Amino acid sequence: MEPLYEGKAKRLFATEDPDILRMEYKDDATAFNAQKKAQFENKGKLNKSITLLIYKMLEERGIETHIVKDVDEVNILVKKVDILLVEVIVRNIAAGSFCKRVGVEEGTPFKEPIVEFSYKSDELGDPLINTDYARELGLATPEECAELKRQALEINKVQKEFFAKCGLKLVDFKIEFGRPSDDPSKIILADEVSPDTCRLWDMETGEKLDKDRFRQDLGGVMEGYAEILERIKNATT
Ligand code: TMP
Repeated sequence: MEPLYEGKAKRLFATEDPDILRMEYKDDATAFNAQKKAQFENKGKLNKSITLLIYKMLEERGIETHIVKDVDEVNILVKKVDILLVEVIVRNIAAGSFCKRVGVEEGTPFKEPIVEFSYKSDELGDPLINTDYARELGLATPEECAELKRQALEINKVQKEFFAKCGLKLVDFKIEFGRPSDDPSKIILADEVSPDTCRLWDMETGEKLDKDRFRQDLGGVMEGYAEILERIKNATT
């Protein structure tokens, strides 16, 4: 069966229900806009399980997501959404492109979270944009940008508290939103929340357990992901 869409880490397939898709998590990993590529055994499985547990936790706290139900090791059913081409990044501690852009030392905590928007475009390398860009590029209205920011800050608050229970510092993360095909007036959390899309550091040692292990050639990439899943499981059961 041909996928309807294939991204760098996931594939989407049609189901009998036009409003529901099957999302398959792949073992592929990319970094720096796919300049660096690898495959990690079990990555799809680990990221699917992590996203599912996090989204269930968010749903329990009143945050709507695209998750419908679990299928198997690497597949879940999700609501069909029209993805907004605005990626939302929330930062609690300086890391990654923030440090590079403004010359701040990694690990510097922020007084308040920073919310950033980027244009979801692989060709352009997901450039940083603001709400005026989003308006003029026709990606989202100013009201929709305000809603994205509001939801992103709420998700940050809930996730930060949850990951703290797991002994993990939520440094930053990227999320994507979409309009459900059966109710396009809404904007809901879609895509994934995994160590591919979050920076998570051990609370005690500061050890990086996320995709930076791959980006920075630190080794033990899947060991980091498995550790995150284990801690999430312990905190949710
Ligand atoms: P950055 O510091 O490289 O801008 O990344 C910020 C956060 O967003 C980090 O948790 C990793 C995540 N991220 C993605 O999920 N996809 C991407 O393409 C990029 C660049 C970052």
